[in-house]
Amino acid sequence: MKIVFYGAGNMAHAIFTGIINSKVLPAENIYLTNRSNEAALQQYQSELGIQYSYDDAELLKDADYVFLGSKPHDFNELAERMHAHVDSKNKFISIMAGLPISYIREALDVSNPIARIMPNTNAHVGHSVTGLSFSRNFGPKSKDEVLEVINAFGSAIEVKEDHLHQVTAITGSGPAFLYHVFEKYVDAGTKLGLDKSQVEESIRELIIGTSKMIERSDLSMEQLRKNITSKGGTTQAGLNALSNYDIEGIFEDCLNAAVERSVELSEQEENES
Ligand SMILES: NC(=O)c1ccc[n+]([C@@H]2O[C@H](COP(=O)([O-])OP(=O)(O)OC[C@H]3O[C@@H](n4cnc5c(N)ncnc54)[C@H](OP(=O)(O)O)[C@@H]3O)[C@@H](O)[C@H]2O)c1
Repeated sequence: MKIVFYGAGNMAHAIFTGIINSKVLPAENIYLTNRSNEAALQQYQSELGIQYSYDDAELLKDADYVFLGSKPHDFNELAERMHAHVDSKNKFISIMAGLPISYIREALDVSNPIARIMPNTNAHVGHSVTGLSFSRNFGPKSKDEVLEVINAFGSAIEVKEDHLHQVTAITGSGPAFLYHVFEKYVDAGTKLGLDKSQVEESIRELIIGTSKMIERSDLSMEQLRKNITSKGGTTQAGLNALSNYDIEGIFEDCLNAAVERSVELSEQEENES
């Protein structure tokens, strides 16, 4: 299998590093290109053994999967560069937020299969939750191959293309929402009189440990919580205080705002691209 990355920026880097580290594909089968930052490509070549080129005919010839990893507003320029060299074998995987499959197809002016994926920043540690959607002409074998590639940097959920906005909100922006909650937890902990750095260090470990408990247990989060809540104890007292607030409502507002913004941005990208 040959995979090419058009765009070797922040997110593409997390993805190709994940593919190499998980040994889904040897580095020799992965090719990179970008607009002009050759120094970055040289660095990836020496660090990871990945090839790079600016020759589009050579890159696209016999490539099974072609990642589209530019910013959405750079895509028209990228599509123009690629168009004449697209091989009938190429299947495209777009990581560009907001650009619909129909738009990508039109800009490239090809009928090749296209998938859209919405990874998150946890791809850097092999734990992205990646939403994905396939064009109708994506065959079952190719879908399985894409899933294998995505599993190299986390897990995948297949959704209708319209639902990628919800995925963007829940898991795309999700790490930032959780960081914010953790920040507030640190601030509140510090107000109890302990040193801020001690509190921050303890809460980092608390988050890592709690994540591992979730990972290693078959129990629901509700059950895990109940298992450590004794009637009349300290945990129960804290949870009673939390139940005075509409926490679910707070997160509903947060997610609805993110979905709305994702829809707005994608309409804007389509109009401006
Ligand atoms: N970062 C995230 O957390 C995240 C999460 C989900 C989705 N995404 C999506 O991922 C995409 C990339 O984001 P990023 O943060 O990785 O951006 P980035 O770091 O700015 O990388 C963009 C890459 O695109 C390349 N590029 C631009 N125009 C090109 C062209 N005409 N031909 C070839 N390559 C070209 C750039 O090359 P040069 O460096 O040479 O200019 C660079 O390698 C975006 O569409 C974003 O919506 C990002």
